Amino acid sequence: MAGNWKMNKTRDEALQFIYAVADKIPSITELDSVICAPSIVLRDLVKRQGDNLRIGAQNMNENDSGAYTGEISPAMLTSTNVEYVIIGHSERRQYYNETDIKVNEKTIKALEVGLTPIVCVGETLAQRESNDTFNVLKTQVEYALKNISYSDVFKIVIAYEPIWAIGTGKTATSDIADEACGYIRGLVENLYDKDVALKIRILYGGSVNVKNVKELMSKPNIDGGLVGGASLKPDDFITLCNEANEAKK
Ligand code: PGA
Repeated sequence: MAGNWKMNKTRDEALQFIYAVADKIPSITELDSVICAPSIVLRDLVKRQGDNLRIGAQNMNENDSGAYTGEISPAMLTSTNVEYVIIGHSERRQYYNETDIKVNEKTIKALEVGLTPIVCVGETLAQRESNDTFNVLKTQVEYALKNISYSDVFKIVIAYEPIWAIGTGKTATSDIADEACGYIRGLVENLYDKDVALKIRILYGGSVNVKNVKELMSKPNIDGGLVGGASLKPDDFITLCNEANEAKK
């Protein structure tokens, strides 16, 4: 269960959250719970993450260092001891021109430095309405996984996030979400094999909340969630983690 705070929470708010949730979520032996926070608070959160929560970043530059004003390098992230990084979130694709090629470069770099990339894919409403969803997912997934070796690919987490469901309160039905996640699993199987397809973790994201999480997580092709709005409140995030854990038992 991964929370994506986006551009929310000051340092004080982030610390309040971490103190409230750190010992109330399921054990790491049962569920991987991750908060992806703004870079400026990552080190503070890692220091207080406790035994069961993990911390991730929301973006990373694909270059090692250099003249990229305002960017965060892979080594800067690993120096904070975060373990995850979101790559290619639709907001980054849309507002910051992150292309499929960039997403692939960032994914390769994240693996190289030992971070677990959470790679986001998903279609717009117009693409869904013109029956283009599977084509879009195929292009995005195939680009993202280009030149990723058999021994590395299962370390990647893929998040299916239909753009029309993000922050809109319009959740994909559990059947739609499961169908798309199943399609992505099939793409992975074609590119690698069945073993990898079964092992790779595929999340659903887009208006997941405490009410719909159980239903979504009970679907066979959905391994977890990437949650924006509902991950901002400690009590909701605790509930999301516990419900996901129960649904997957
Ligand atoms: P949301 O965001 O849960 O607020 O829809 C999900 C995301 O963008 O990762």
